[in-house]
Amino acid sequence: MACAGVVFLLAAHAVLLLSIAAEATLPPRYPRCNAGDRAALLAVKAALNNASYFQSWTSDIACCHWYGVDCGGDDYDYDPTDSDRVLTLAFLRDDNLTGAIPGDAIAGLTALQDLTFFKVPGITGRIPSSLTKISGTLKSLTISRTGVSGRIPSFIGEKLNSLQSLDLSFNSLSGAIPPSIAALVNLSYIDISRNSLTGKIPPAMLSKVDTIQRGPAILRLSHNNLTGRIPAEFAGVRFMEIDLSRNRLTGDASMLFGEEKKDLVAVYLSRNELSFDMSRLQLPDRFGFLDVSHNAVYGGIPAQMANLTNLQMLNVSYNRMCGQIPAGGNMARFDAYCFQHNKCLCGEPLAPCGGH
Ligand SMILES: *[C@@H]1O[C@H](CO)[C@@H](O)[C@H](O)[C@H]1NC(C)=O
Ligand SMILES: *[C@@H]1O[C@H](CO)[C@@H](O)[C@H](O)[C@H]1NC(C)=O
Ligand SMILES: *[C@@H]1O[C@H](CO)[C@@H](O)[C@H](O)[C@H]1NC(C)=O
Ligand SMILES: *[C@@H]1O[C@H](CO)[C@@H](O)[C@H](O)[C@H]1NC(C)=O
Ligand SMILES: *[C@@H]1O[C@H](CO)[C@@H](O)[C@H](O)[C@H]1NC(C)=O
Ligand SMILES: *[C@@H]1O[C@H](CO)[C@@H](O)[C@H](O)[C@H]1NC(C)=O
Repeated sequence: MACAGVVFLLAAHAVLLLSIAAEATLPPRYPRCNAGDRAALLAVKAALNNASYFQSWTSDIACCHWYGVDCGGDDYDYDPTDSDRVLTLAFLRDDNLTGAIPGDAIAGLTALQDLTFFKVPGITGRIPSSLTKISGTLKSLTISRTGVSGRIPSFIGEKLNSLQSLDLSFNSLSGAIPPSIAALVNLSYIDISRNSLTGKIPPAMLSKVDTIQRGPAILRLSHNNLTGRIPAEFAGVRFMEIDLSRNRLTGDASMLFGEEKKDLVAVYLSRNELSFDMSRLQLPDRFGFLDVSHNAVYGGIPAQMANLTNLQMLNVSYNRMCGQIPAGGNMARFDAYCFQHNKCLCGEPLAPCGGH
C-alpha cells in the first residue's frame, strides 16, 4: 500500500459526456428547435469550417438534438412546456475541429448556460471577449485540453456574473490570474491547473462566494508557475478541495487547516517552497487527502492524524520534519515512501526512534 487510496471527484463534464453518449440507443425524440438559436448554431458550424463534428447538424434533425447541443427537459416524453432554447453547447474529443473559439456566433445563443470545449487541441487563439454577450445566462465555462493561449481575460470576473464553474485546465494560458475573478459570487468551482500562469494568487479569490448557497469551494491551480504566499484570506474560505501543487509558492499554508473546517477533504501542496509547522495543524474529522511532499515543512505529524477514519492519502516526504510518526487508525496503510527524506521522522514504517 502506498500513500494514496482511491481518489474520485466527478467533474461536471463527465456527466455531460455520459448523457450525450447514452442518446444513441434511445427511441426517437420529439422535435424542438428555436429559430434564433438554430441560426446561431449554423453560424458556429460555418465559423468552424463545417468540420466532420457537425455531421448531425442537418435540416432533417431538430437543432435541440444535434450532436453536442442540449435544450434541457426530457427529449422522449412529450411535454409542450419544455423549452426549445439551447442551454448547452459542447465540443468534445475531436482532433479535426480547428480554428479560434467562434465567440461572435456563440453569443447568438442568448439562453446558453453551459459552454464546453474539451479535448479539442485544434481550437487555438485567445478566449474571445464576445462571450460577455451571454453573461446573463452562462453558468459553466469549460475550455480544457485545447490549444487556447494568451492571458485569462479580466472580463471573466467583470462580466460573466452568473458563472458557477470555470474550468480552464490543460491549456497554454499565461500571465497572472486576474484579481477581478474574486468578484464572482457564485463561482465555487475553479480549475486552472496545467497552464503557465505566473504571479500571485489574488488574495480575495473565492472570498465573495456564497458557499451556503453554492456548497463548499474547489480550487485547482496545480502545475503552473505561481509565486508568492498563499493568501491569508484563504483562512476564511469554505474549501472542500484545494490543489496548489507544482508551483513556486512560499511561506505558510496552515491557514487552510483547522478543526472547524468541516467540509475540507483534500489539500494538495506538493512541490512548492512552503514552510510551516506541521505539528500545529488541526484537521477536521472527515479529512481524507494530504500531500505536502517536496516542500520545507517542519515540526512533527500531529497525533490526531491517526484518529482520522477517512484518511486515504498522506505524503509528507521530502520535507524537514522530525519526531515520531503516530501509530494506529489508518496510519498502517502508508508506506515508507510517504515519509522518506525528512530531517528526523522516526517510527513505523521508518526506522525506530532511538535514544529515548
Ligand atoms: C510521495 O511523494 C514522493 C515524493 O514526491 C514520491 O516519490 C512518492 O511516490 C509519493 N507516494 C505516493 C504514494 O504518492
Ligand atoms: C458540410 O459537410 C457535409 C459533409 O460533412 C456536406 O455534405 C455539406 O455539403 C457541407 N456543407 C457546406 C455548407 O459546406
Ligand atoms: C477526423 O478526420 C479524419 C479524416 O477526415 C477522419 O477519418 C476521422 O474520423 C475524423 N475524426 C473525428 C473524431 O471525426
Ligand atoms: C447566484 O446564485 C443565486 C442562487 O442560485 C441566484 O439567485 C443569484 O441571482 C446568482 N447571482 C448572480 C450574480 O448570478
Ligand atoms: C516555469 O518556469 C520555468 C522557468 O522559467 C520554466 O522552465 C517552466 O517551463 C515553467 N513551467 C510552467 C508550467 O510554465
Ligand atoms: C483520538 O481519539 C481518541 C478516542 O476518541 C481520543 O481519546 C484522543 O484524544 C484522540 N486523540 C487526538 C490526538 O485527537
